[in-house]
Amino acid sequence: MAGREEEQGTAPFPPYHRPVLPDEVDFWMDAKPDDLIIDGTLGGGGHSEMFLRKSATVLGVDRDPQAIEYAADRLRPFGTSFRPFLANYSEMRQHPGLADGQLVDGVLLDLGVSSHQIDTAERGFSFQKDGPLDMRMGPDAALSAEQFVNEASEDELLRVLRDFGEDPQARRICRIIVDRRKKKPFARTGDLASCIEQALGRHGRIHPATRTFQAIRMRVNQELDMLTKALVEATACLKPNGRLLVITFHSLEDKIAKHFFQHHAKPMIDDPTWPAPRENPEYYLTLPVRKAIGPGQKELSTNPRSRSAKLRVAMRNNRPFVTS
Ligand SMILES: C[S@@+](CC[C@H](N)C(=O)[O-])C[C@H]1O[C@@H](n2cnc3c(N)ncnc32)[C@H](O)[C@@H]1O
Repeated sequence: MAGREEEQGTAPFPPYHRPVLPDEVDFWMDAKPDDLIIDGTLGGGGHSEMFLRKSATVLGVDRDPQAIEYAADRLRPFGTSFRPFLANYSEMRQHPGLADGQLVDGVLLDLGVSSHQIDTAERGFSFQKDGPLDMRMGPDAALSAEQFVNEASEDELLRVLRDFGEDPQARRICRIIVDRRKKKPFARTGDLASCIEQALGRHGRIHPATRTFQAIRMRVNQELDMLTKALVEATACLKPNGRLLVITFHSLEDKIAKHFFQHHAKPMIDDPTWPAPRENPEYYLTLPVRKAIGPGQKELSTNPRSRSAKLRVAMRNNRPFVTS
């Protein structure tokens, strides 16, 4: 896809984020003129631009004001076909471009952080670039990484490092952080990264603070809770045959998307305590492709960030959505 951004006429804009799996998203979203599509993770607007070029209307959502500002500028040539909205994707149905109860033809969630967020030291996401220990994707996040690292109880810190970082060294890293913050609270990403590196040493290519940073980011932005809510919201606002596309970047996110899709695609459910299987009251989806779709060789060789991307696709069936 090396030439795609030039092709799409985005050359005057500084690079913000290169969309992953562009061909696969294009194929499965199958945007048509006059389709209404929610892009719940607008970022630099790359995926949105693909839909707009097919003459769809795009309701863009991002919790990051920088993404909203950038995408609004980039996609201005599309006029009123593009409507950005600063919000959490768990609130996508409150988009002002959506009338009460109005349904849409597609929803895209391309999870995680944008290259711009990671590469901007002041946002505090990176252990490779020193910056304030922040990691908030947007102003709706209740606390910063600095507050979490310095104020969380030891139990909470351990739970986050273990559950979200899946780090075999979680207990040791938790101790290191708790001992150090008693003497001097952490304020900078570089300080946290080097404290962990000094204590654990560096073995191999991967920085020993990698999983710690991922875990803290997920906690600060409540990423898994928001994803669970957003999948329900997206399902609720899809028309029959509407497409739901979710791109994940690590196993915890993918597990949530996979289980959600599988559960909602089952006409019948069973339980050992029941005399017989029952109809699934939450049977709302069909899965045109059961497995996750990854990048092809061409994309892998030109966009290393696509390495861990997995796309899952579901289609809405025609059963009315019932809120519990
Ligand atoms: C991987 S980037 C999306 C890139 C985009 N598809 C593109 O083509 O440029 C993820 C974006 O989702 C946003 N985001 C992450 N979690 C969010 C949430 N819960 N609500 C709204 N936006 C979120 C981030 O701020 C970031 O801009």
